[in-house]
Amino acid sequence: MPLVPMRQVLDEAARGGYGVGAFNVNNLEQIQAIMEAARATKSPVIIQASRGARKYANDRFLYHLMLAASEIYPEIPVVMHLDHGNSFETCKSAIEMGFTSVMIDGSLMEDGKTPSTFEYNADLTRRVVEYAHARGVTVEGEIGVLGGIEDGHGAGGSGLEHLTDPEQAAQFVEKTGVDALAIAIGTSHGAYKFTRKPDGAVLRMDRLIEIHRRLPKVHLVMHGSSSVPKDLQDIINAYGGKLKPTWGVPVEEIQLGIKNGVRKVNVDTDSRLAITGAIRKVFAESPEKFDPRDYLKPAREAMQKVVEARMTAFGQAGHAGDYQPMTLAQMAEQYSGALVR
Ligand code: G3H
Ligand code: 13P
Ligand code: ZN
Repeated sequence: MPLVPMRQVLDEAARGGYGVGAFNVNNLEQIQAIMEAARATKSPVIIQASRGARKYANDRFLYHLMLAASEIYPEIPVVMHLDHGNSFETCKSAIEMGFTSVMIDGSLMEDGKTPSTFEYNADLTRRVVEYAHARGVTVEGEIGVLGGIEDGHGAGGSGLEHLTDPEQAAQFVEKTGVDALAIAIGTSHGAYKFTRKPDGAVLRMDRLIEIHRRLPKVHLVMHGSSSVPKDLQDIINAYGGKLKPTWGVPVEEIQLGIKNGVRKVNVDTDSRLAITGAIRKVFAESPEKFDPRDYLKPAREAMQKVVEARMTAFGQAGHAGDYQPMTLAQMAEQYSGALVR
């Protein structure tokens, strides 16, 4: 099955009332873990690469690994998505490389740190939409700013400082024509999201519900959606790690989001925790081992387990075979006829 445009996958998810996990990758093992999880649960899937991932792995490696995934798992619709594009050029280069979907995160300036103005964000996003849609590629935009800072990306702060304003969200969608909208509801990237199990004061599901009420047809995206499970933290700490106590986004809150228009759920940290715990365990229990396969195999299995659990919880399981994938050319034609939304 060829790589598919994300718009189709999200439209189908909206029709079926489920969410689709968007899992970050940097290497072969992470792609394999996601694809095995997708096969086991019969899930359509979004695989995303950040700018850091593109730099780490090199675009051409990532692209060819993704092509291999689509050949080896022909029954699975796979989206290849750019996570947090910071400029028109970053998005353009991803599209040229074969990504079928891009995020332009104009909520921050190009430095990936400084919150931008509404006008800057809307203008930049509109330009990316025009370029991408002419090529059948999907665009995710962001309004409002997430908290925290990971790998140099993020505005810092608690996550409550730049919540998405529903009225601005409506104007943004109208001005840009984005296919999916990332919103800020109190989450942050990384492991340290909340200092206790989040309640409505810090995880603003009420805001999400309000945005969905205002924009019922828009595909919403939840970033910073790792659940940071205690069992994964415990494995890391049991084998010499030093994670401080922390809480992520409970799966039941994500499920509430999915009932209220969330179609894409971004998860990276949970995969990182699973991989690191598995590797630490091998290193601690079998210090004589030095074949990378001895620790990368359990790492891959641990990531597959967490991804499978998320796919099942988000409701995408069982939906891989629901539809024939559209080509980018068909999608471009659909956009040009303004049949979309
Ligand atoms: O947006 C955050 C994702 O977890 C990607 O992180 O920039 O360290 O690859 P990264
Ligand atoms: P987590 O750090 O919660 O996994 O979020 C990932 C994300 O939002 C990627 O864009
Ligand atoms: Zn994100």
